[in-house]
Amino acid sequence: MRKILVTAPIPAPGMDILAAAGEVELLALDHDGLAERCASGEYSVVVSQLRDRFDRELLASANISGISNYAVGYDNIDVAAATEHGITVANTPGVLTNSTADIALLLMLSTARRVIEADNFVRSGAFTGWEPELMLGTDVSGRVLGLAGFGRIARATARRALGFGMTVQFCPRPPSDREVTDGELGEFAGRVQHVSWDELVTTSDFLSLHVPLTADTHHLVDASTLRAMKSSSILINTARGPVVDEVALVTALREGVIGGAGLDVYENEPRLAPGLAGLPNVVLLPHVGSATVSVRSEMARLCAENAAAMANGAPPPHPVNSPVPM
Ligand code: GLV
Ligand code: GLV
Repeated sequence: MRKILVTAPIPAPGMDILAAAGEVELLALDHDGLAERCASGEYSVVVSQLRDRFDRELLASANISGISNYAVGYDNIDVAAATEHGITVANTPGVLTNSTADIALLLMLSTARRVIEADNFVRSGAFTGWEPELMLGTDVSGRVLGLAGFGRIARATARRALGFGMTVQFCPRPPSDREVTDGELGEFAGRVQHVSWDELVTTSDFLSLHVPLTADTHHLVDASTLRAMKSSSILINTARGPVVDEVALVTALREGVIGGAGLDVYENEPRLAPGLAGLPNVVLLPHVGSATVSVRSEMARLCAENAAAMANGAPPPHPVNSPVPM
């Protein structure tokens, strides 16, 4: 039986589930190494991380039947090419929805209320007592949240924002639009407003991104989008870095084109655009949307169950494509 290739250890119970399904080989690989291993014919399934890039060329020479990505997003994999080559791709949906929405709210609150600056202020010993105008921020309650996207994480963010007394509007598939039925609105019918991308950009106090990274969403927020936003507005990105032109964002933040940004993801992760880290009006997190002990454990379980199924020639519980077996 062919082995399961694992490019980074995943939390419990992931490795045990994998070990019960077949022989596991754990190897940290660069892109060439990954391509070579995938082509070798030694492995049925690869358990991959977002940093493992499965491009068209790698997939064309790959002799594997499945890829189980340890993430909900799969922009590191050319899924169309995988499908053409009979390779099933699986992900870990659902389990990280709430934790990522928590991070979106956390970034909104901490950027608006200057939490990092304030914390540094106290730690540095500069706090000498209550002051009428110390560390004044901007309101979250009563403000308008614009959601780019209306998938699971956007909805979980909407639920939280409504609890904070925000007005919530969304554009389901920016930069274009699509119909949203009452059934899809569900609990949000009458509580959130469906608007165009233009309206979302120009009228939101907080613009929070919840779109997958695709050719359509690459640089969705560029210099012209930033110019169209309110000068007081705050951009939140818990989705994927390249959805924002990060160099343009640094310029916009420096020049007061927008008010601030809370980011969990970066265009060239883990590198930051020059100047970003020096700005006072940003809160920067190291891609931790799903980073709780229980969520990472659930992701590991789903990821390992996907891999185990594929290693046994069965469809995974959470496929993102359905290729015809070759
Ligand atoms: C993390 O970014 C994920 O896609 O799970
Ligand atoms: C992510 O999985 C989403 O649907 O927002």
